[in-house]
Amino acid sequence: MSRTTHPPARRRRSALLTAGALVAAGLGTGGMLQGTASAAAFGCDVDYSANDWGSGFTADVTVTNTGDTATNGWTLTYSYAGNQQLQQGWNGTWSQSGRTVTVSNISWNGTIAPGASVSTGANFNYSGTNAAPTSFSVNGVTCGEDPGDPGDPGDPGDPGDPGDPGEPGDRVDNPYAGAGVYVNPEWSENAASEPGGAAVADEPTAVWLDRRAAIQGVNGGMSLRDHLDEAMVQAEGYDDFVFQVVVYNLPGRDCAALASNGELGPEDIDIYESEFIDPIADILSDPAYADLRIVTILEIDSLPNLVTNVSPRETATPQCDVMKANGNYQEGISYALAELGAIPNVYNYIDAGHYGWIGWDDNLLASAQLFKTTATMNGASVDDVAGFIVNTANYGPTVEPYYTIDDSVNGTSVRQSSWVDWNRYVDNQSFAQGFRQQLVSLGFNSNIGMLIDTSRNGWGGPDRPTGPGPQTSLDAYVDGSRLDGRLQAGNWCNQSGAGLGERPTAAPAPGIDAYAWIKPPGESDGASEEIPNDEGKGFDRMCDPTYQGNPRNGNNPSGALPDAPVAGHWFSAQFQELLANAYPPVN
Ligand code: GLC
Repeated sequence: MSRTTHPPARRRRSALLTAGALVAAGLGTGGMLQGTASAAAFGCDVDYSANDWGSGFTADVTVTNTGDTATNGWTLTYSYAGNQQLQQGWNGTWSQSGRTVTVSNISWNGTIAPGASVSTGANFNYSGTNAAPTSFSVNGVTCGEDPGDPGDPGDPGDPGDPGDPGEPGDRVDNPYAGAGVYVNPEWSENAASEPGGAAVADEPTAVWLDRRAAIQGVNGGMSLRDHLDEAMVQAEGYDDFVFQVVVYNLPGRDCAALASNGELGPEDIDIYESEFIDPIADILSDPAYADLRIVTILEIDSLPNLVTNVSPRETATPQCDVMKANGNYQEGISYALAELGAIPNVYNYIDAGHYGWIGWDDNLLASAQLFKTTATMNGASVDDVAGFIVNTANYGPTVEPYYTIDDSVNGTSVRQSSWVDWNRYVDNQSFAQGFRQQLVSLGFNSNIGMLIDTSRNGWGGPDRPTGPGPQTSLDAYVDGSRLDGRLQAGNWCNQSGAGLGERPTAAPAPGIDAYAWIKPPGESDGASEEIPNDEGKGFDRMCDPTYQGNPRNGNNPSGALPDAPVAGHWFSAQFQELLANAYPPVN
């Protein structure tokens, strides 16, 4: 295996520099600077005291909101150095995993207005020494440090901060907090060219590196450096700025489907490492880009496929069995984590499927274990992982507002309904939060954050429910309540009736770093019939509106739109439907 060495760690500069030419086609940057830029900074102070009786103690904790917006739910985390063991908590939901303690609000104390405080407490047992915890985080933000205030320890560019010369420890908890986000001029131009599309054309979307040639730019399009140079231009006027890039070219890619098969064969791991990851790492580590927060989204669908779509399961495919046996998904991802994680301003997020895939108990634990193994092999470590992303390029709602997994009808749990089918979750946000806890309990860092791709999960328009369904039967209740308009949660290709989802937002909920638009809305998921191409893309019947399904979608019709082009190509009719069915609506 080849492994590049990177330039020595470097001191960050105190101001963003502009570099390179403005390469935006068709749009001035003035219109591109909105995005999530106005996200308000969250800050907190925590007051901790212990009333100790020798073998146990009561911890009293007061959280004060020092930011300028009210919290919409909060989660506090901290760690003990000894064997302190939680017994019982109050005025909050307390849990403990190893030495890490997590406290979340209960329904009536989730809102903390700016300047206001909430108090919560718990009893612990211990033996030996009972040292007070030294660091507290709320909603992923380390308390006592106002992000964005010049001179705070840890702000990039503060000369003299310990650790500032670019060690990985330099990273902030949530790269999206208080930051602007890059608007891809190529997507923006496509969106703006559609009727009504200008209303969303200034939203940030990710740049996809879906083949080696994409690093230099495909068909005269922008190269990775062009995008980074443009990001430096857009970053002017922001203290912090995020650049989102999808790394998507594993050997034997998309093993459970055909629509996004790629250029590399199952055994091409050396090509992946030396001709794809190494050149990307070389570019991202260029000191010219050191002031960007570079968010990488690693290899959509790959590790979840190794959990659910392998023998002896009924959902197995021969190609996923090959990729599990040869280990090249895990090899490739661990290599990418280590190489990209060595760059101090890179934040790696691993793709973790979605609630309608990994949300069942047996899939959840097995996935978390596979992620842990992969993140700690081949020179990678949990410190190379900033978090995970769910729902990438998928259609599952962020939050189902009209029913929850705890509901029942006439004494029967919604888990037994046809739609939920024993899943542990009914939406992506609760799944992301629960999965996060599982990952932390297996040894991922307690400050990992989750991203949710909300680009196409809005489900607005005339068919959207406006309240809970009738209690006449379990299925009537769930089907009448759910926003998700799909025929089955395993459907994934160009879904009919879908709309744009929540606009990109930083720190929207506890444990969630951001809602982000990773799949650029309007780019096809796959061709609805066989279309010859030179990208390695196949024809998957799940993109054919006449297809009646397979075991991976419970043998249901595909629900796909007709007349779709090859995956990744612009699909005007889909964009217009997404715009019409957006929720929140686009005015
Ligand atoms: C699909 C395509 C890929 C494209 C991406 C974003 O995964 O296979 O080529 O870049 O979608 O639209």
